[in-house]
Amino acid sequence: MGAAKEAGYADVLVGLQYGDEGKARVVDHLATGYDVIARFNGGANAGHTIATPSGALRLRQVPSGVLHPGVALYIGSGCVIGLQQLASEIAMLAAQGIRLDGRLTISDRCALVQPRHVLADRRDGARIGTTGNGIGPCYADLAARMRGAERVAFQLRDLRCDEDRVFELMTRQAMRTDDDGNDIAAMMDGMRRAWTVVRPFVTDDAVALLRRVEGGARVLFEGAQSVMLDVVHGVQPWVTSSHTLPAYAYVGGDLPCRYHRKIIGVAKAIVSRVGSGPLPTELGGQRSEAYCAAAAHAGRGRADEAASHDPLALLAEADAFATGVALRMLANEYGTGTGRPRRVGLLDVAQLRLAIQQAGVDEVYLNKCDSLAAFAHTSERCIPVVAGEAGCAGQRVLRFPAFGAEAIPTDAGAPLPPQLGALLEWLAHAIGIPLRGVGLGPERAQMRLLEPTQQNTP
Ligand code: IMP
Repeated sequence: MGAAKEAGYADVLVGLQYGDEGKARVVDHLATGYDVIARFNGGANAGHTIATPSGALRLRQVPSGVLHPGVALYIGSGCVIGLQQLASEIAMLAAQGIRLDGRLTISDRCALVQPRHVLADRRDGARIGTTGNGIGPCYADLAARMRGAERVAFQLRDLRCDEDRVFELMTRQAMRTDDDGNDIAAMMDGMRRAWTVVRPFVTDDAVALLRRVEGGARVLFEGAQSVMLDVVHGVQPWVTSSHTLPAYAYVGGDLPCRYHRKIIGVAKAIVSRVGSGPLPTELGGQRSEAYCAAAAHAGRGRADEAASHDPLALLAEADAFATGVALRMLANEYGTGTGRPRRVGLLDVAQLRLAIQQAGVDEVYLNKCDSLAAFAHTSERCIPVVAGEAGCAGQRVLRFPAFGAEAIPTDAGAPLPPQLGALLEWLAHAIGIPLRGVGLGPERAQMRLLEPTQQNTP
């Protein structure tokens, strides 16, 4: 009798700020070290971007390991499925020669985002700046279960059992919700077509992932949204509707937590946020928040700012709001799916430390370190970082020497600018865990791994 194969393990990767920290590029970078990349929360509200030689790949529901053909992909029961968005993502990938047959598995316990959810989210979610994908109403219905004598939540397994009945119920409920004369019949037709694309990937095996791990598979759970947007631990109502903390990976990802190994956090050297809600270190404060909300409402974004502002001139103004606009332009801080301008702020070390504690993070990747070069164009020529609690008496802005864009290495062997090295060393001590890698630009080759030397190990 041969020796039993050793079981595998799972790591969990989460964003530590307000979403859009560049999680997908870190997953893409780490993917070859895993057998399965799995999603456990959220739905088509996520916008995950990976820079490839043939352009940016934008993913919403398919896990970010998709570019590595040997890696399997799993969408766990904690996710909600937008059928049409998922079908078009599958088609978009197929058009690029990436076929998912045999690679993608979707739990049949995933809840279905219904047209009624999208209509309700567009009506009620605008005040808090949701992505409008029906995510909140879908999770709410899953908990509500019934309204009057009718079921209000459906999982993919309901569609598999009796799709005609489920489509009929969804149509009736959508018609009752719709105040704007939307073409519900056309919406339902689109959903039916999308279901034929998605259906072959759906499994009723509740232990599909467990079986793989028992057979030795190494899993990377990929969080969507981020710790600060957790439905309970974020600041209500400006949160998403699922749990974003890594412990939830073992509920929404369909794996017993005994296989857990470590937690990887992803943060950005400047912070940003889309939609409303607290952003204590926002450059330009309430003015920035109001400006970004109005721009999102009017559909103004990247192109409009590029046409009307010179970022270097803005940086010379010594005005926080202007600095924020310039950083947004230089760091390309616009929503992946929506193109909305993101609100931009200074690195908030107290927030980061708290998120690391709450999430139990073991190591961190810090993206967008190149964007700090913008501060070389300010009159102070230094990089401001907020330490201590923002908005409180303990808040301090520390200033680190700036470095220019020309100092950012373009080849892997060249050293980091000493100013950045000093900042990273200070940060690793401040957060109490090692920095494993830094992003020096969006491309794959611009991810720099840090050796566990004194420089980044507290
Ligand atoms: P919802 O998740 O669409 O309900 O939106 C709730 C809040 O979470 C809004 O402020 C959204 O902008 C934010 N949000 C949702 N998904 C993402 C994401 O992938 N990145 C950044 N923010 C997100």
